[in-house]
Amino acid sequence: MYVAQPIEWTENGVVMLDQRRLPADEISHTYTDYREVAKAIREMVIRGAPAIGVAAAMGVAVGVQKSKARTLEELRAELAVICETLAQTRPTAVDLFWALERMKQRFAGLARTTEDLPAIRQALIEEAKLVHAEKKASDEAIGRFGAEYMPTNGQVMTQCNAGALATAGIGTALGVIRVAYEQGRNIHVLVPETRPYLQGARLTAWELYRGGIPLTLITDNMVGHFLKRGKVGAIVTGADRIAANGDTANKIGTYQIAVLAKENNVPFYIAAPVSTFDLSIASGEQIPIEERAAEEVTHIQGVRIAPDVPAAHPAFDVTPNRYIAAIFTERGVAKAPYTESLRNLADTKPAKAAV
Ligand code: MRU
Repeated sequence: MYVAQPIEWTENGVVMLDQRRLPADEISHTYTDYREVAKAIREMVIRGAPAIGVAAAMGVAVGVQKSKARTLEELRAELAVICETLAQTRPTAVDLFWALERMKQRFAGLARTTEDLPAIRQALIEEAKLVHAEKKASDEAIGRFGAEYMPTNGQVMTQCNAGALATAGIGTALGVIRVAYEQGRNIHVLVPETRPYLQGARLTAWELYRGGIPLTLITDNMVGHFLKRGKVGAIVTGADRIAANGDTANKIGTYQIAVLAKENNVPFYIAAPVSTFDLSIASGEQIPIEERAAEEVTHIQGVRIAPDVPAAHPAFDVTPNRYIAAIFTERGVAKAPYTESLRNLADTKPAKAAV
């Protein structure tokens, strides 16, 4: 089955599929400067929490690879600047900060044992490739755990795009749907278009269509209607940050879907890797919500659709844990009380990924 490749490490640099151009054009760009990688993350060439993490790790790797530092201390100072630049791109997806921390830790470990700069550069490239390989492996595992909860025959709703484009693997929410479909479940996906950036209409619809999974595209204001009709067996979405109590930030609109799900007795699930947990914060109240440009609301693909008035654009909302029936991760399924179940999964030893 077709799986999109949003990012790849190559000898020429970091190659990213430009998601702003989908579905009309499949164009890739090659990045050899970490500042350009940061710009690509900010401007949504690549998006989706785990894929942003992979891009950040590769951004660090390319920054270190191209660095002119001649001593360990010069490289250490430059690494701090590289990481800070990448950290300033998108505030909500915790995978970004997880990936940067991991690259910093890897550098710190290497710097304790060697001053061989070519060896350090190479090891950081390998680490970024490992982050990518691990995302692929964790998606497969999330898919296997989550598929058990999908209906054998019925509709499944999602939100935004939590597919291959968003993770650089098979996807989290769409990975669950994909595995369930491959197991022979008769699934039909309802895809809300996900205003204002239209990740549902542009990206999820494209991925499912290319993968041969049946779907129907709906507008965001049809969600309640379809849930009330009683044919939706489950809802599964991704996550950008999951607080210690299970409150989950995801694409704007997810909260209202979860509330409508409860009203209509449809189970609402989250699918996300453990790297999306932020156990340092007690609840979703502390999750920073990215505010994006008003033009993304007043315009669609550069065409003005509203008068020149103020427009709000919080890019994410937070779904309180009470609306979430379960969280599928690569280490198992968390259920309420989440403070315990998420901590247990975080403490479980991860399986090793092969590059
Ligand atoms: O603004 P985006 O497109 O980066 O937002 C993406 C989402 O909200 C996804 O649902 C989330 O990152 C999970 S991706 C597996």
